[in-house]
Amino acid sequence: MKIKNICCIGAGYVGGPTMAVIAHKCPDVKVTIVDLNKERIAAWNDKDVANIPVYEPGLSEIVASARGKNLFFSTDVEKAIDEAEMIFISVNTPTKTYGLGKGMAADLKNIELCARQIAAVAKTDKIVVEKSTLPVRTAEALRSILDNTGNGVKFQILSNPEFLAEGTAVTDLLDPDRVLIGGDTDTEGQEAIEALVQIYANWIPRERILTTNVWSSELSKLTANAFLAQRVSSINAISELCEKTGADVNEVARAIGMDSRIGPKFLKASVGFGGSCFQKDILNLVYIAKNYGLHEVADYWEQVIIMNDHQKRRFAANIVRTLYNTVSGKKIAFLGWAFKKDTNDTRESAAIYVADDLLKEQANIAVYDPKVEEGAVLYDLNYLHTRSAEDNRKGVKAYADPYEACHDAHAIAVLTEWDEFREYDWQRIYNNMKKPAFVFDGRNVLDAERMMKIGFVFCGVGKAY
Ligand code: NAI
Repeated sequence: MKIKNICCIGAGYVGGPTMAVIAHKCPDVKVTIVDLNKERIAAWNDKDVANIPVYEPGLSEIVASARGKNLFFSTDVEKAIDEAEMIFISVNTPTKTYGLGKGMAADLKNIELCARQIAAVAKTDKIVVEKSTLPVRTAEALRSILDNTGNGVKFQILSNPEFLAEGTAVTDLLDPDRVLIGGDTDTEGQEAIEALVQIYANWIPRERILTTNVWSSELSKLTANAFLAQRVSSINAISELCEKTGADVNEVARAIGMDSRIGPKFLKASVGFGGSCFQKDILNLVYIAKNYGLHEVADYWEQVIIMNDHQKRRFAANIVRTLYNTVSGKKIAFLGWAFKKDTNDTRESAAIYVADDLLKEQANIAVYDPKVEEGAVLYDLNYLHTRSAEDNRKGVKAYADPYEACHDAHAIAVLTEWDEFREYDWQRIYNNMKKPAFVFDGRNVLDAERMMKIGFVFCGVGKAY
């Protein structure tokens, strides 16, 4: 079966870039991305391609190459479903904030709505592809909704989790380590898998396209994120020990990373991981394990989150302690708010939690991030419901210029590893700060020796200075 028409429900950080790359690489396939969010679709359709709602290096060029030719963004969900032979579901699956499984389970409301809408609209057979990260066995629920329409339409359900990392989404999509496709083991299932393999084979070598059963595919995505996050929490656990013992976590990471069994990636100590996925997916894994009565398995993975929360909290506590046990009324400049460099995504960013802790201590926070504006910063803090929106507005101000953000500050906290932070005129920043001038480098991006030579009191993660 050759696919000519693809629909993707969800025009977010995953749906947008993945479908833009498919359209770019498969000029014969019409790709329509739909979303309920009108502003988001309008932004994807903005005449000036620099205004698309997701910032990723190289993305606007890819969108520009295909938009209006074989790539379309629309709010007409039903029309796109009707026309497509293959429908990707790429909607958000956040942690539940209510009811059973609150704070742990994935909220599958959006997924179910998509399935019901597909069931209601489809007049011809469809392949439905789970692109969102979902708990293992979600395909079962989808099937039971789709197979009960009574109108004779046949559905195949595939799992095709996305492994891209924000900040490098385009290169990850163009040259992925692997693509994973899970489907049914019967003939129809294998045909559906092959139809999707054909799409990816337009630019990805066949040996990197893995096919499995649906459950392995669903569980592999949760497992991959759990392993990645676990490495961060592991090195962060060691960073605290380094600070007490005179070891340097960068040296330790280098020494263990050269062991080919361990490998050098994802061994950077920091203020903690953020992003919309790691925490949500591990909590989901923990919840699933608990549901099966696997308490030791659940506790094991939960520890990754506990360590990460600890790392964020102790970073904030260290700022307070170092500033003579009070930051009340002091200006603390935050360099970076995004959860990592090269993205404008701030979901679950460590910066939010560090700011929240410092606001509890009555600090004044001045934020500079090259891709994040004040509205997003306040939205993130308000979302925590720690204090009123009014109080957040009083305590936090965002700046368009880093030198202004740091002017008259008592301390600077680096929360995101943006490359530009290394290039600043640090002497100028120092001259305009209150003295002693403190820098807390939560990403270990600055040159500690140089900073101390200028006169800063310097604190990094995982080394006592
Ligand atoms: P997002 O929140 O950026 O985008 C989801 C979009 O779906 C939103 O624009 C929302 O309006 C839309 N939507 C929700 N329900 C809808 C419905 N019923 N009909 C039409 N549109 C609807 O989320 P993001 O980051 O793109 O994540 C999507 C999925 O991909 C999640 O399951 C996530 O875990 C997974 N994922 C995310 C990665 C990331 O780096 N952000 C990486 C890999 C997987």
